[in-house]
Amino acid sequence: MNDPLTIRRLYGRRQGHPLRAQQAALVEETLPALSVPDQGPLDAEMLFGRDMPLAIEIGFGKGEHMGWQAANAPEMGFIGCEPFLDGMVGALMQVRDRNLSNVRLHLGDALEVLERLPDATLDRAWLLHPDPWPKARHAKRRFMNPGPIGLLARKMKPGGEFRFGTDHPVYVRWAMMVMAGVPQFEWLVEGPKDFLVRPDDWPETRYEAKARAKGHEVWYMKYRRTDANS
Ligand SMILES: C[S@@+](CC[C@H](N)C(=O)[O-])C[C@H]1O[C@@H](n2cnc3c(N)ncnc32)[C@H](O)[C@@H]1O
Repeated sequence: MNDPLTIRRLYGRRQGHPLRAQQAALVEETLPALSVPDQGPLDAEMLFGRDMPLAIEIGFGKGEHMGWQAANAPEMGFIGCEPFLDGMVGALMQVRDRNLSNVRLHLGDALEVLERLPDATLDRAWLLHPDPWPKARHAKRRFMNPGPIGLLARKMKPGGEFRFGTDHPVYVRWAMMVMAGVPQFEWLVEGPKDFLVRPDDWPETRYEAKARAKGHEVWYMKYRRTDANS
């Protein structure tokens, strides 16, 4: 099944508790200028006003990881996608506190953004602790499925790097199966430490911290976009 539309419906929460006045003001005052435009093709020029390498984070949660990456790669443009409004507030705080000018934000489904990027555009992509949907009957809701991952593969440049992290044993097995079926991605692994030890340039996300606090193992997977086209 290669249709990204299989997860077109967003199943997670979009809003938790109502925003506090200060948070609502941050959203109103800063999100419009940083938002990915609603329609039309997307590229670095239209998002950042100049040509630059592009990266995407799918489901950035509260945005700490994206904030760190964007601060450490000021010459790369970051597109953060997250439908959860509380998460968006976190990302806006990252942009403000780290004084970032290389981040654009999409309050919604990452697929909507991916579809509008030209093929072979992205240098980097992250999918960190995606919602696990552990029940087999909900497996189609997982972002890690041939449709969405095939779309991501098309949008990545050969040589680009895709990182995926999870602490969920069902999801990690499923992900390895899905990724093994995508020749456009080569797993960058030589031994167990490559997926068991968090790389220095992979800051801990909120979900990872929660997982570690519960004593869970966490898996860190890196993939390189190959030259293969199908
Ligand atoms: C379990 S949380 C992990 C958040 C963060 N990556 C972390 O590691 O702390 C998964 C996040 O993915 C978001 N999400 C789910 N489906 C998505 C989609 N199709 N596009 C973008 N974000 C999505 C959810 O709203 C949620 O915030």
